[in-house]
Amino acid sequence: ELSHQEMVKRVRAIKQKFGKKLFIPGHHYQKDEVIQFADATGDSLKLAQVSAENTLAEYVVFCGVHFMAETADILTNDNQKVILPDMRAGCSMADMATIKQTEKSWKVIQATFGDSVLPLTYVNSTAAIKAFVGERGGATVTSSNAKEMVTWAFKQKERILFLPDQHLGRNTAYDLGVPLNQMAVWNPNTTSFEYEGDLEQVKVILWKGHCSVHENFTVANVEKIRAEKPDMNILVHPECSREVVDQSDYAGSTTYIIDRIEQAPKGSKWAVGTEMNLVNRLIKAHPDKEIVSLNPFMCPCLTMNRIDLPHLLYTLEQLDNGNVINQIIVDQQTADFAKLALQRMLEHS
Ligand code: 13P
Ligand code: SF4
Repeated sequence: ELSHQEMVKRVRAIKQKFGKKLFIPGHHYQKDEVIQFADATGDSLKLAQVSAENTLAEYVVFCGVHFMAETADILTNDNQKVILPDMRAGCSMADMATIKQTEKSWKVIQATFGDSVLPLTYVNSTAAIKAFVGERGGATVTSSNAKEMVTWAFKQKERILFLPDQHLGRNTAYDLGVPLNQMAVWNPNTTSFEYEGDLEQVKVILWKGHCSVHENFTVANVEKIRAEKPDMNILVHPECSREVVDQSDYAGSTTYIIDRIEQAPKGSKWAVGTEMNLVNRLIKAHPDKEIVSLNPFMCPCLTMNRIDLPHLLYTLEQLDNGNVINQIIVDQQTADFAKLALQRMLEHS
C-alpha cells in the first residue's frame, strides 16, 4: 500500500519522463488528487477542443468519463492513444440513450413528423449516438454552446430531437423563446410521446434522460435558501430541471459557473447547484466569498469519482512499462460519422 505522498511522487516522475508525449486533460468535476496533474482543465467543450488541437501527445490519459474519452479518440490522430484510467467511469445520462433505442425511436418520430426533424445530441452521449446524429445532418452540443447550436438547428429544420438530456434541451429551447407547450417528451422505454395536445405544434422533442447528479438540486433546496439566506445568489447548471433553473438567479455551463464566481465581488454569497468536486474547489479558491452547495448534502458524480489517484498512477505505471491499458477505441465508421456531428459543433463554438 503506497502512501498518498509516494503516489504523487511517482505520477510526477512519470509525467516528467514522458514530457509532451503524455497529455492529461481533466474535467472540472474530477477530484483534486487527480486534477493537480492535469495539463489542461475544462468543461466538456474545452476538453474536446484541446484534444483536437493536441497533435504532439502519443498518449492522452483522459481524466473524465467514458464519452469524453471517446470524443478525444475521435478528434485525435490515428497514432494517438486515448486512455481512461478506470473503465467503470461511465455516465448514467449517456446510458439513457442506447443506439438501439435511438434507431427504434427515430422510426416512430419520422413516421409522426416526416422529414421535419433534425437530431441534436448533448456530447454526454455514446459515440454511436453522435454518429447516428452526424449521419443525419445533425450536430453535438455542450452546455456552453447549446443556444448557438439549437439556433443553428432551427435554420435547417422545423423541429429538433434533443438527446439525451431533457433538461438541457428544455432550458435551452425555453431561453430561445420556444414555449413549453411546443416541447414534447419522448419516452424511449414506452416508445411514446408524453404530451397532451396536438403533436403538429411540437417544435422540440426531448429525449427522456437526465443527469442523476444535477437532478438532486430541487425547488425545495431553492426555497430553503431563499427563506434562510435571502441575500444568496443561486447559480445552477442547465442540467437541473426547468423549475430549478427558473427559480435560480443564474444558470450556465461548468465554465460559466466558474467565471461567475471568479468575477463576483468580495463578500458576495453563492449557492451553487453543480457537482461536488467543483463546488468544493470553488469554496477553497474563494475564501473571500461565501459559497455553499445548493443541496446541503453535496452531490458527487460517482462515475467521475472513479478516476482517482491510484487508478491514474496504475495506468501511468503500466504505460511506463510499455503496456497500454484501458485504451478507448471508437471504430472507424462510427468515428467518421460522429466526427461530422462534432465538427459542426466546433465550427460554431
Ligand atoms: P459541461 O462540462 O459541459 O458543463 O457538462 C457537465 C457535465 O455533466 C459533464 O459530465
Ligand atoms: Fe454524467 Fe451527470 Fe456525471 Fe456528468 S455529472 S458524467 S452528466 S452523471
